[in-house]
This record gives sequence, structure tokens and C-alpha cells, in this order.
Amino acid sequence: MRLLHALGGDARRCLIVDDDPAMRTVLRRLMAAEGFACAEAGSGTEAVAVLERESFPLVLSDFHMPELNGAELLAIIRQRWPRTAVLMITAVSDVNLAVRCLEGGALDYLTKPFTTEEVRARVLQALEKRRLLLDNEAYRTTLEERVAQQSHKYEELFVAALQSLADALEVKDSYTWGHSTRVSRYAMAIARELRLEPELLDQLEFGSRLHDIGKIGVRESVLNKNGPLTEAEYAHVMEHPVIGWRLLAPLMRDMPVALAVVRSHHERFDGHGTPDGLSGTDIPLAARITAVADSFDAMTSGRPYRDGMAVEDAVAELKRCAGTQFDPYCVRAFEQALASSAVPQPDWRVQRKVTLQIVA
Ligand SMILES: [Fe+2]
Repeated sequence: MRLLHALGGDARRCLIVDDDPAMRTVLRRLMAAEGFACAEAGSGTEAVAVLERESFPLVLSDFHMPELNGAELLAIIRQRWPRTAVLMITAVSDVNLAVRCLEGGALDYLTKPFTTEEVRARVLQALEKRRLLLDNEAYRTTLEERVAQQSHKYEELFVAALQSLADALEVKDSYTWGHSTRVSRYAMAIARELRLEPELLDQLEFGSRLHDIGKIGVRESVLNKNGPLTEAEYAHVMEHPVIGWRLLAPLMRDMPVALAVVRSHHERFDGHGTPDGLSGTDIPLAARITAVADSFDAMTSGRPYRDGMAVEDAVAELKRCAGTQFDPYCVRAFEQALASSAVPQPDWRVQRKVTLQIVA
């Protein structure tokens, strides 16, 4: 009963495969004396049928058998029941055969004639190897799960930290409260209309939420000025794409699309934008999308010195500037998204109300 004690309840069953009934009986008695409940199969094919009905932690299999030989049976077991330990048995002591079996995934090899002690020792060894393999597998799975959990937690903290930055900006730039959330919502509606891949959608959502983060580096007196900006003030505000890109680049190396949104959302389709003067499709698509979403929100949001534009007027303006300021493809997609009600209608009065509550 030594084996049973060492291996626990799971390992108390064994399948004996041999075309010689006398050999099966010998092995069965021997294993039964060790506390194993055994099933028998007279061929490789029969063994597969038995294994399909119930699982066994251990298979003792003869090598030379008609129909399906031991090596072929071993290959099937490795593929279909990889957790089953296989101990190969043959009448001839052949080193090459032993090597073949071990290479094929047998946990050990036994030659006839064998003694009771020999069988016991090899079975014990094979099952101990199996236990170690299963322990390893469980450890690896647990480790992978832990790493995945940790990295998910890290991502959440990272997103939360960047979100706080975006929120800090919106408190500083009080008249655009909610701007980044709305821009992100509009940008996602365009992207869905264009059927962008999920990986791009995630980065676009992130990038559009943070597109104006560089305004943190813009003087508050300029940011909240009541009225038109001077040329110098405008130039100062327009530094924000590069400031934002410099701020985020070290943190978002694996999010190039999101970074491109931050840097390039003020590029123009005709090449007269900033900061790099990119034109047409040289401007990353996510940035072209965000440019449309950003302008739409800017036009439809109220300012202290003016009301927000009506949706129809803002769309007309986007269409007028399609091909010069904006990518016509993105403008059309936004129009379609609006028509299909995929975009919530903006209400600048609600935005102003929230702004006043926040500022107060
Ligand atoms: Fe911007």
C-alpha cells in the first residue's frame, strides 16, 4: 500500500494494456496488491476506447501489440490525455526503444521479465514525475493569473492617474468642463462608424480623453481669458499638443495611437496645422478623428461670451471645412453617426450649469 499512501486517492486507478492475457493478470494482481483498482485492455485500440469512457492517472502499456502498438498508443494518450502517466513495458531490453518511448512522452520504461519490486519502484517514480509535472503546471497557471491580475491592477492605477490629470486640467480650464469626456464620446462614435479595430478603439478612447492634457502647461490667465486671444497668446495655447506629448510619452510607450492623438489633434488635412504640419493621411487616423470631435464640441459648447452653436450649424461648418481642416472621410462618418443617433446631442446649457457648480 506504499504507493497509494504516497500518491493519494486520485492515483489509485490504473489501465493495463497488453495483448497477452496472462501478463495482464500478473500486472493486475501486482498493482491490486498496491491498492490500485485496475481496468484492462487487450489492444491499443481497446485502450483508447476505455480512456474515452473514463480517465486514468496511470497506464501500463506493452510495446509490441497488433493494430496499434505502444508508441502509437503513447502518442494518442499524450495528445488527448496529457495528464495521464504512461509506463511502457516490453519483452526485450532495447535502449533505442526506451529512448523512443521517453522521447514520445512515456514517464518511464520497464523490461520483462520484471520483479515485483522493480514494477513498484518504476510505477512510484512515474507517478511522482506526474505529480511534479501537475504541480508545475498548477504553479505556472497560478503565476500567470497573478501576473495578469497585477498588470490589470497596474493598468487601472495608470488610467486613474491619467484621469486625475485630465480632471485637474478641466478644473483649471473651467469653461471646458466635460470637454474631454464629450470629445472622447464623439471620437468613439466616429471610430465605430469607421469600424476601427478594438485595439485602436481602446487607444483612441484614451488618447481623446487626454488630448488637451498639455494645457496644464498653459498659463491660466490665457486659458480662461474672456475674449479673443492675441497672436502671442494663441501661439502659447497651441504649444499644448507638444507639451502633452512630452508629458505622456515616457508613460505610454506601448500606446502609440493614443500618443499620436495628443500630439497631432491640431494638424490640418491641408497641411497647415500644428505642430508638425502633417497633411492628409500622414496625420494618424485617430488624430484626424479627434480633430473632428474636438471642433464639434468646441463649436457646440457655450462660452461666457457666446452661446454654443446649434448642432446643424456645427455640422455645416465641419462639412465646409472638410478637405481643408478636416478629413472628409471622418466628417462623413460623424454625420452618419449623428444621423443614426449614435451620438448624444450636446446641450451647452447643462454643461454651463455643471461648470458653475464646479467653480462655485
Ligand atoms: Fe487641443
